[in-house]
Amino acid sequence: MSVAYSQQGSVAVLTIDNPPVNALSVAVRQGMIDGIERAIADPAVAAVVVIGKGKTFIAGADIREFGKPPQPPRLSVAIAALEASPKPVVAAIDGVALGGGLEVALGCHFRVATPRAQVGLPEVKIGIVPGAGGVERLPRVAGLEAALKMIVSGDPARAPQAAKLGIVDAVVEGDLLTEAVAFAQRVVAEKKPLRRLREVPIETGGKDWRALLASARATAAKQTRGQISPQRAIDCIENALTLPFDKAFAETARIIGELIPSEQAKALRYAFFSEREAAKLPDIDASVQAKPLTAAVIGAGTMGAGIAMCFADAGTPVQLLESSAAALDRGLARIDGLYAEMVQKGRITPEDKAKRVELIAKATSYDAIGQADIVIEAAFEEMGVKKEVFAKLDRAMKPGAVLATNTSTLDVNEIASATKRPESVIGLHFFSPANVMRLLEIVRGAKTAKDVVATSQVLARRIGKVGVVCGVCHGFVANRSRGQLTREANFLVDEGALPHQVDKVLYDFGMPMGPFAVADLAGIDVSWRVRRSQDATRPKDLRYSPTADRVHDAGRLGQKTAKGWYRYEPGNRAPLPDPEVEAIILQSSRDQGITRRPISDDEILARCLYASINECAKILEEGIALRASDIDVMWLYGFGFPRWRGGPMYYADTVGVAKVYDAVREFHRQHGKLWEPSPLLAKLAESGKTFTGR
Ligand code: 3HC
Ligand code: NAI
Repeated sequence: MSVAYSQQGSVAVLTIDNPPVNALSVAVRQGMIDGIERAIADPAVAAVVVIGKGKTFIAGADIREFGKPPQPPRLSVAIAALEASPKPVVAAIDGVALGGGLEVALGCHFRVATPRAQVGLPEVKIGIVPGAGGVERLPRVAGLEAALKMIVSGDPARAPQAAKLGIVDAVVEGDLLTEAVAFAQRVVAEKKPLRRLREVPIETGGKDWRALLASARATAAKQTRGQISPQRAIDCIENALTLPFDKAFAETARIIGELIPSEQAKALRYAFFSEREAAKLPDIDASVQAKPLTAAVIGAGTMGAGIAMCFADAGTPVQLLESSAAALDRGLARIDGLYAEMVQKGRITPEDKAKRVELIAKATSYDAIGQADIVIEAAFEEMGVKKEVFAKLDRAMKPGAVLATNTSTLDVNEIASATKRPESVIGLHFFSPANVMRLLEIVRGAKTAKDVVATSQVLARRIGKVGVVCGVCHGFVANRSRGQLTREANFLVDEGALPHQVDKVLYDFGMPMGPFAVADLAGIDVSWRVRRSQDATRPKDLRYSPTADRVHDAGRLGQKTAKGWYRYEPGNRAPLPDPEVEAIILQSSRDQGITRRPISDDEILARCLYASINECAKILEEGIALRASDIDVMWLYGFGFPRWRGGPMYYADTVGVAKVYDAVREFHRQHGKLWEPSPLLAKLAESGKTFTGR
């Protein structure tokens, strides 16, 4: 039964029952129509409550049905039936009312919600627009400005905020069904007029709606650069303002019809499901129990401080241990400063700051952290230091504790060997800034136990990260594959391009920053140190660009010295091309005996992206990543790869694997060994297959 019908006194109750999230599949749509018709026809029924079974109201349309031929009845027909009911209809919302779920609720005459409920129209995030009346009804209940914000961002509002905006009529404590039935009975007793939102005018709050729309367009163009759906959603809102309800609705239906099969929407749906797939491991199911979580962090530098903040932000107490009291104080001061900045920007309140700071406790010895369930080491990136720390952790930590390292390049198995319990050791690779970046690479060592992996996945979720499991190799998945892009960017500059040209191509593709702007932000000394650590092992016959070293040696360390691959005006982070750098580059090309040539934007894009894609294919065939989609999720959350392009693997499939393979072979011919094609890439190209099953 997808919609169960029952009665409480004179109130009919339609219970949506479609686990796991009550998505609006065809049976639910039909069930709502049948239910409301039965209630209307029954003289013993005076009002109707619509509620979700389980922990949620309705998560929206069934995304798995998208791209397939639509099956009647349409959702809008079911919603119209609820709205047209002559008997009051009350939506009772717990958990989420998202997309079609909120549209169902807006079709009801009243809405009550639990305090933890959330309502929103996230359709733009999957490349479409709200297609069952949300665009037309939300501004009528919440006013234009608030509705614009919610529809264009796709972000939900929590119940108290939704109540302020008028989206929810009452936030109720106690049993939701009981409260909703009582609400419905009051509506009947008080003969409250039924509020059909289609009949309500849109409130603009005295503001010029054209200006509001223009400003929303500009914001969306910045925040979701290159993505079509937010702009199309604004078109729909404009129609809702200027056309009668039914005409505007018909126009929205036409637009959503165009968007659903679009490349962007396909890629965004792929990203949605890839993210959920990444949480699933073939050898770990629900029977593997995660451990409880109290945490400690070793090292309060850039990463350790950020990691401690992740716990505090999630309301979890965390202990911080340093090598000296002075270093610990510096770390805590750094945390205080970062929170102070957030207060200043209005992101958190001073009370939030105080609460979070209080959750971070100083620890002065290994014994003091011994009872923590999980400890994350973020000390210096040196094997000797890591081994010393892990030997101490082995002695101090209680049995069963998870011992994690945030190393970015060192061998997790070797670190584990410093303990007598390598099964408890795992890599938890955060990205900088750790309290902001959502990717968490969960690096499974050769001996890591399953429950340690499962606990790490739970931890990721709890601190708001997207955890993706991978195996051990140098640089793991994300940095190893991204490193190839940087490598080619440097070679392109040696061959004739300039940093701003390369950066512009990647920026225009949709990356948040080009590789040279990223290098300036991260610090040119950081990558310089990594290269020095690789000098001894780097094969002498491999091509190596000395240009970045020369930029470093000229004292240009990036944004922190106001000079790097670019120059920077005081107080401004905008990268400006610098003739001094150009001179270094030209000299470097000459010294390498390279005759510079004009380089096309197409070549830049192909060399940068295909180098990474070829490496991703190698990572996949080595089994370091489990699925192509896992790699895509890492790029989306680790590097801001444009979500509407799915990720590098999905992008390769869109371009055509055979085309990518041909280009890789050609670059191999031109540039040699570093372009050795991945056998998996070759196999897929030759058999006409894809990475992602697209
Ligand atoms: N359709 C189909 N499946 C869905 C779904 C949907 N709308 N929403 C979630 N699911 C599935 C997930 O794929 C997952 O399946 P799996 O267990 O097989 O992997 C399962 O439900 C549980 O989902 P999560 O793991 O994400 O569970 P959470 O508890 O973390 O989150 C959620 C629940 C907040 C509902 C989150 O899943 C979510 O944000 N869902 C998408 C919401 C959305 O985009 N709705 C709009 C749909 S478009 C629409 O309504 C168009 C309309 O305007 C006509
Ligand atoms: P950092 O130099 O800013 O901080 C390291 C901190 O560890 C210092 O405060 C130091 O006093 C402390 N420390 C050193 N030895 C210690 C010991 N034995 N016991 C306790 N504390 C000790 O370095 P950063 O950048 O925070 O890096 C830390 C780790 O995170 C490294 O392994 C690094 O590779 C990794 N990492 C760094 C990223 C980055 O972007 N900076 C990104 C991802 C991982």
